[in-house]
Amino acid sequence: MELKYRSHMISIDVFPFVFPPSSPFSESTHTVFDQFGDLRGKAVLDIGTGTGILAICSALAGAKHVEAVDIYIPAVECAESNVRLNHLESKISVYQSDLFSEVAYGKQFDLIIANLPIVDYPEKSKEFHSLFDPSFKYHKELFRKAPQHLKANGKMVLCHADLQDDSFPKLEELAVRSGFKFKIVNESHSLGHVWRNYEFTRKE
Ligand SMILES: C[S@@+](CC[C@H](N)C(=O)[O-])C[C@H]1O[C@@H](n2cnc3c(N)ncnc32)[C@H](O)[C@@H]1O
Repeated sequence: MELKYRSHMISIDVFPFVFPPSSPFSESTHTVFDQFGDLRGKAVLDIGTGTGILAICSALAGAKHVEAVDIYIPAVECAESNVRLNHLESKISVYQSDLFSEVAYGKQFDLIIANLPIVDYPEKSKEFHSLFDPSFKYHKELFRKAPQHLKANGKMVLCHADLQDDSFPKLEELAVRSGFKFKIVNESHSLGHVWRNYEFTRKE
């Protein structure tokens, strides 16, 4: 069964096994949205778009164009459906991609949003794509490829939680090793964990 979320600005349907924003929309979604600021004229890439919620928020924050990608076909179909539901087809392109694999070669963005799975645990099936990042392989590849797709003054944002003891230091070390500096732009407490919104920019 589909879940449906409606706010005064956005309508979101959640297809089975697609990561749901919590009602009406998750804390992290709100804070990431606040963090976007004014996106007028900006090019945005939303990696791991799920329902498409953050791509839709970006378009509503004024982005010129948004590319929304997910590795999981039901998520791609769900995001496409939500883009239509919100009449944003002219602003958002949705397609399947394993991280940057299908993003046009050399294409650069002002903002990359990457709310990927954050639990370092072996993945048992595709339905758990939203949750598990075994040996942190998706994040390693994200940080390896991101510099090719980020404009010089662009930024990458993501939400992370201390679900495992070394979650934050592992992410921060990976970012620094990959040539990024980082800022924690928001920290909140929910479900017995600390949730942080990070912003990454290239080291000069
Ligand atoms: C935690 S959910 C976030 C969904 C959405 N961005 C949100 O904030 O509600 C993570 C999403 O990343 C997708 N994903 C996992 N691995 C991926 C990969 N290698 N490339 C692209 N998307 C991936 C999952 O299918 C899932 O939809």
